[in-house]
Amino acid sequence: MKPRTLAAEALGWVEPQHRGLIPAIHPATTFERAADGSYPGGKIYSRDNNPTYDQPEAVLAALECGKHALLFSSGLAAATAVFQALRPGAAVLAPRMMYWGLCNWLTGPAREWGLRSSFYPNGDLQAFEDACRKERPSLVWIETPANPMWDIQDIAATAEIAHRFGAMVVADSTVATPVHTRPLELGVDIVMHSATKYLNGHSDVVAGALVAAQASEFWDRIRAVRSSGGAVLGPFEAWLLLRGMRTLFLRVEAASANAARLASHLQASNRISSVLYPGLPGHPGHDIASRQMAGGFGAMLSVRLGGEVSARAFAGALRLFKQATSLGSVESLVEHRASVEGPQTLCPSDLIRLSVGIEDIDDLIDDVDQALAAS
Ligand SMILES: Cc1ncc(COP(=O)(O)O)c(C=O)c1O
Repeated sequence: MKPRTLAAEALGWVEPQHRGLIPAIHPATTFERAADGSYPGGKIYSRDNNPTYDQPEAVLAALECGKHALLFSSGLAAATAVFQALRPGAAVLAPRMMYWGLCNWLTGPAREWGLRSSFYPNGDLQAFEDACRKERPSLVWIETPANPMWDIQDIAATAEIAHRFGAMVVADSTVATPVHTRPLELGVDIVMHSATKYLNGHSDVVAGALVAAQASEFWDRIRAVRSSGGAVLGPFEAWLLLRGMRTLFLRVEAASANAARLASHLQASNRISSVLYPGLPGHPGHDIASRQMAGGFGAMLSVRLGGEVSARAFAGALRLFKQATSLGSVESLVEHRASVEGPQTLCPSDLIRLSVGIEDIDDLIDDVDQALAAS
């Protein structure tokens, strides 16, 4: 079956007792043992696992062409579980431009705990290989397209180099989604998602997910981090996430098509200094993105307006785009990233990030036009 069919039908699962097409929510925190001490239902305690996870994890594994998936209480909980499964003293390499929350964690608590984190310039394979030679990382992190400039990393080439140096490779594919890119098929070992974004898609669940290409001792350690640390998703949130994933393809394709139209429109404006969107032929990562992204280039783009004052005035003048953090929902959002990220940010102060939703494109274009005129 094609991925959109797997998603729409949530693998075609039918609840066995009443033949319900939609799974039940299991609020139980604990599950009964048999007289012989075994667990005939296969579940023990909800900090280890919950039956409401089974279906969304299976759908995600199928969409990413992986063998195993794990849900977490947030995207950051999923990402940090990967690093916590390493041994203290391990070296990790991550991109210089990446989701700032994880970058902060890698340079803060992770270093205190003993991880040796260093950073490679996005998109520069020679510099990445040199960094591998110098740092000898146990794990390489990829984010593509990467927040907030939407740099593109060649996934297959990065994985090949990293594996040559004996490193595992994990890709944050939150922005690409399985609709556009399947990193496991390009050689990555584990895919990570902030499921808060496109997978759920409605700004009403905070969740994270990991999908592994195959079983491994490292994957078992990640599972143990989840159950011993307790960063588990509530059953209701897991159920909502499954509901969201059923419309993933419709939502992501519509939002990506809107973003492509909007990027071209904004590029024609003389009030914008540059439009950062991998779908534009002038974007430095466009050719690689065309190879590793199918059916679109995602729905995230940024614009630079030549100065912080005009950038913030533009964001404030938008009406349909709501000024709010986050991305990947059906409604469009706008954000001045530098002020959100604070003094350590690498994000230029004239940059405005747009998360394009599924509204009518004419309304979105009218909104940016009136905001550019007003600011
Ligand atoms: C690319 C990316 N990765 C990870 C995260 C963290 O996810 P969460 O907010 O679900 O913890 C975010 C959140 O904005 C993100 O944009």
